[in-house]
Amino acid sequence: MEILLRLYDPSARPAGKQLYTVIRNLIVAGELSAGTPIPPSRTIAEVLDLSRSTVTSAIDSLSLEGYLAARQGSGTYVSALFAGHRSVPAAGPSAGALGSAERQMSRRLTETMAGPQSPFDFDETLRRPFTVGTPMVSDFPLGTWRRALTEAARTLDRIGLAYADPMGYLPLRQEISHYLTASRGLDAGPERILVVSGTQSALDLGFRALADQGDTVVLEDPCYLGASTTARLAGLAPVFVEVDEDGIVVERIPASPVPRVAVVAPTHQFPLGSTTSLSRRLALLRWAERCSAWIIEDDYDSEYRFDAGIHEPIAVLDRSGRVVYAGTFSKTMFPALRLSYMVLPQDLVTPMRAVRLTTSMHSPILEQAALATFMRNGSFAAHQTTALVTYRQRRAALFDALAATGLLEDHLAIMASTTGLHVCVQFHDVARDDVAVAASAGVRGLDVWPLSIHCHGPRRSGLLLGYGDTRVDDIVAATRTLAAVIASHSN
Ligand SMILES: Cc1ncc(COP(=O)(O)O)c(C=O)c1O
Repeated sequence: MEILLRLYDPSARPAGKQLYTVIRNLIVAGELSAGTPIPPSRTIAEVLDLSRSTVTSAIDSLSLEGYLAARQGSGTYVSALFAGHRSVPAAGPSAGALGSAERQMSRRLTETMAGPQSPFDFDETLRRPFTVGTPMVSDFPLGTWRRALTEAARTLDRIGLAYADPMGYLPLRQEISHYLTASRGLDAGPERILVVSGTQSALDLGFRALADQGDTVVLEDPCYLGASTTARLAGLAPVFVEVDEDGIVVERIPASPVPRVAVVAPTHQFPLGSTTSLSRRLALLRWAERCSAWIIEDDYDSEYRFDAGIHEPIAVLDRSGRVVYAGTFSKTMFPALRLSYMVLPQDLVTPMRAVRLTTSMHSPILEQAALATFMRNGSFAAHQTTALVTYRQRRAALFDALAATGLLEDHLAIMASTTGLHVCVQFHDVARDDVAVAASAGVRGLDVWPLSIHCHGPRRSGLLLGYGDTRVDDIVAATRTLAAVIASHSN
């Protein structure tokens, strides 16, 4: 009775439902063990100041569901079903038992979590100068997007509430198809376009559909850690292949075991920023044909290009249906939208559709419809024009600030980069502890990523500086802070 008195909250309504919940939780938590007698309903009613019928009704419900059992003539007890139901400490950081034999995760997960992780994580305080991977969300045309959402909500009919096409909302796929032809030179009808929720999910779907547990997947070195962790979680074994200024060094791809998939970002290598040359692109395609392997092309931010050079996807050159192209709205719109797309070789459409159907089915329909409207009415193209001008200015401001602070002369070289929303700068001194520099920059309010953590083979030391969501004035101030941080590490 004491425990009931302690847990029962007289202000919570309805009273009977609360009494029911308190007793049930005590039983489930193992605090009332099998055979414990429940006080007579009259006593409970008096002590908790409840009507007798409220208490009887709660006890009846618990009995009906099997939590309690009546014994002829001697009252009500916690049911024998709970015999041996012991109380275990609540799982949580203090439990510290994850990984122990009792609470074992898959080996894939344990090993992935023990390996290199992307520095990216959600943290509100990370909206700081130089954040990598975030586009101009601070200057995104939010009003226009809200109108597109309103329009989508207004026209949504009841049919649209049911499960929808796993390939994605058709009007959106049509818009993506036009967009890819116009902007990326990639001709793909909507029937080959699969809408998914971000590049990570595209990689995950691709790995599940195209490779088996233990198969080898080729990743670039250095690489996007989102790709390596997703591959490991899918049970694949990454092999890291060196990237030079021409892109992935195709002849270094191991012949055995024959890799099933290669993930590359040929238009804007992550993190270095280089563009893969035409001869390497053709060599990679020939390799895929020879080995019957697949190429997943991650084309995450190459809409923003600032120079001449090859900016068309490798998928444009693909004549044997070996390339699965992955594009995203995370940069051209905003990351929280979680909408992206894959362009599939014709014969992969049915299998990939099946994988999507049995995993996450499809992305939310309202956002897909709003995005289709946003693209159809010209808002998307208008935003791209503004974004390109904005990024060009921010990038130029960053290059100027790096020169003005003397950083380029004394410490850093800008890696070749004609595209995207970040730049990679490499320390002249390869032994420089870039992780320590990034940590000190973090203390001074900057969000700078070290290059070395993305390297699996030969170590490189440098920093990744994002300019997507950092305004020109902030770039200038932040570069001065960075120069001071680097100077303090040089003494
Ligand atoms: C190399 C690379 N690929 C893809 C993405 C985008 O991923 P998502 O579409 O899941 O937001 C990023 C994000 O920064 C990236 O750096």
